[in-house]
Amino acid sequence: MALDIEFVRGQFPAFQEPSLQGQAFFENAGGSYTCSQVIDRLTRYYTQRKVQPYAPYEASRLAGAEMDEARQRLAAMMGIETDELSFGPSTTQNTYVLAQAFRQFLKPGEAIVVTNQDHEANTGPWRRLADEGIEVREWQIDPQTGHLDPAKLESLLDEKVRLVCFPHCSNVVGEINPVTEITALSHAAGAFVCVDGVSYAPHGVPNVGELGPDIYLFSAYKTYGPHQGLMVMRRELGELLPNQAHYFNADCLYKRFTPAGPDHAQVAASAGMADYIEALSDHHGGPSEGAAAKASFVHDLMRAHEVELLQPLLDAMKARNDLRLIGPSDAALRAPTVALALNRAAAPVAAQLAEHGIMAGGGDFYAVRALTELGIKPDEGVLRLSFTHYTSQEEVEQLIKALDLVL
Ligand SMILES: Cc1ncc(COP(=O)(O)O)c(C=O)c1O
Repeated sequence: MALDIEFVRGQFPAFQEPSLQGQAFFENAGGSYTCSQVIDRLTRYYTQRKVQPYAPYEASRLAGAEMDEARQRLAAMMGIETDELSFGPSTTQNTYVLAQAFRQFLKPGEAIVVTNQDHEANTGPWRRLADEGIEVREWQIDPQTGHLDPAKLESLLDEKVRLVCFPHCSNVVGEINPVTEITALSHAAGAFVCVDGVSYAPHGVPNVGELGPDIYLFSAYKTYGPHQGLMVMRRELGELLPNQAHYFNADCLYKRFTPAGPDHAQVAASAGMADYIEALSDHHGGPSEGAAAKASFVHDLMRAHEVELLQPLLDAMKARNDLRLIGPSDAALRAPTVALALNRAAAPVAAQLAEHGIMAGGGDFYAVRALTELGIKPDEGVLRLSFTHYTSQEEVEQLIKALDLVL
């Protein structure tokens, strides 16, 4: 079953927006378009329910119920309990708070593992635990390919390691890391696992329960939703870590690590992400029930479409000798987040692409450590071309033609 791209694009008002016509969007890893289900719920919240939620009057009851609905339905899609999912202002904020919890939890002499493949959000806050006498071990990428080798992790693990942090997929390397395998290795060594799923989730909401990490983070604004950071905290770890919220909220798992007051409207509107995924599943003849089964069906549909569109782009870039394609050239191994090192500043090239109707960016994308290890000057950065399942074949062709003109 192939993805019905017309149906998909019909769910995103941006594709009908006159001011965006003729422009192909290739900076989706920075933030995706928003689906109409989310926009409609956001509008309804602001027009009909913008009152303090969880109070005994109808508008408030509806507001609170919609916030609960968002957590319940998205958690079900990810194969976890409802209270194991919480909403924070962003993934960066969520990891910062988590690092504070681990700061209190870990003892001097204990160790954590971080990578140099991550976006700074899932490495910088953890590295600062060194201030408390925590040993920070760096799991390093291959400087040629950007690959993160699980065999190298094995040599870093011992009984001192309490936490392993890594990305499901880096926002510049694009390679999909084997979360289940890495989690199993880490758990066998007695360490907890924190996965940054920000660059992966837009390509198919994962079943976190099956993948197995203790913490899984992603950002709704890159996954067709509002500007929120979603955080899965599995109960066993969540109850061990010290509460970071008001003391009287300590017994509520989904409040323990989100001390900021939530943005009620955006939390409620996140239910639209579940609506969208269910609509895709139903339209394509997916399973008749089961949120996780529908999400898994949609995940595979999205991936198949993306892989098909991605391979010609990778082939075209691999064939050139004036640039370096970062990450795998086999589309099946990666997300459609393609970074190119040009040996010159990338931002001006992105500006040239804009003249050809391509919206893309150049820079370090906060993956400074990864670029540095790959031998790329962060101030030159990479040209990043990222798309999702709603991208059409014509847009990819437009991109390849535009690249031929500007490179
Ligand atoms: C891989 C990755 N992790 C984390 C983040 C940070 O997410 P947020 O903007 O929600 O803080 C980003 C943002 O670009 C990202 O690409």
